[in-house]
Amino acid sequence: MPQTRLDTARIRAARQVIDPAFLDTPLYRCEALEPALGCAVSIKLETANPVRSFKARGTEIVASLLADHGPQAVVCASAGNLGQALAWSGRRRGLDVTVVASRHATAAKLDRIRALDARLELVDGDHETARKRAAAIARRDGIRLLEDSLDIQTCEGAATIGLELADSTTPFDTVLIALGGGALATGVGHVMKDLAPETEVICVQPLGAPAMTHSWHQRRVVTTDSARTIADGVAGRYPIPAVLDDLLLVADDALLVQETSIIAGMRKLHDHAGLIVEPSAALGIAAILENRDRFAERHVVTIVCGSNVNIDDYHRWIATAPTHTS
Ligand SMILES: Cc1ncc(COP(=O)(O)O)c(C=O)c1O
Repeated sequence: MPQTRLDTARIRAARQVIDPAFLDTPLYRCEALEPALGCAVSIKLETANPVRSFKARGTEIVASLLADHGPQAVVCASAGNLGQALAWSGRRRGLDVTVVASRHATAAKLDRIRALDARLELVDGDHETARKRAAAIARRDGIRLLEDSLDIQTCEGAATIGLELADSTTPFDTVLIALGGGALATGVGHVMKDLAPETEVICVQPLGAPAMTHSWHQRRVVTTDSARTIADGVAGRYPIPAVLDDLLLVADDALLVQETSIIAGMRKLHDHAGLIVEPSAALGIAAILENRDRFAERHVVTIVCGSNVNIDDYHRWIATAPTHTS
């Protein structure tokens, strides 16, 4: 078993503090998608919960550890889903939650953060600017900074998805994982390598936001000057070295996909699975669409990891995608 920062016993224990609403999510074969994709496809559905993404698996651990020490304050930078999850986990435990986000972040995500009573500070610039501002607030106020993917709880929370996949009675060959900062991929990847090492772990990122994928291939941190993708949940530019080290130990490959494929993936999930998803959640389907030969004859699990999307954007995107089945 590769020595990542994660610990399988701690991941198992984490299930005890995560609200059951986020655990044991559906995992099912979706035959209706298969003619269009040319392989067996199962969906691990992480959108049918109070925050419509997997991120609360991690924030539940963070918030419960903080709440053990009385009412505490915590700040994070977020493209929206981590912030919404921290707001949800913090509110029910009486924590004072501040979320820093880009002014250009998805409005539907920002609205939910506000609705969950968190303080929301918007910055000019992108997610990397928000990360710097959150760190500055934490230093100024002497409060806990939650850094997605660097904080081990964000990885180990996401890793509980891996436990559920490893427990599945249906055998599968490959798991496709959206790659942003890396909490989801290192978490699920760690558990797969520990408990189901024959399963192939493949990360997927947009071509327009490729920093972590380039870093994985070059085995060193590679940054980019810009991140241009509709997949806002994975649009980072500065990979975190410790997270890259873990990803190098647990990922078998990292793929880049085009924006048109992401949109086609969203459309397929809509048409054949009845799912409205945000772009990051369609990365796995996009990877199959771009690599049919590679996945043919295989049984692939794709983690449908979020559904927080501006509905007008969603309609506009999927209107441009082909409706036919292949
Ligand atoms: C919907 C969605 N998918 C994928 C990711 C990427 O996860 P990670 O940053 O853990 O790599 C995120 C991150 O916030 C997300 O919100």
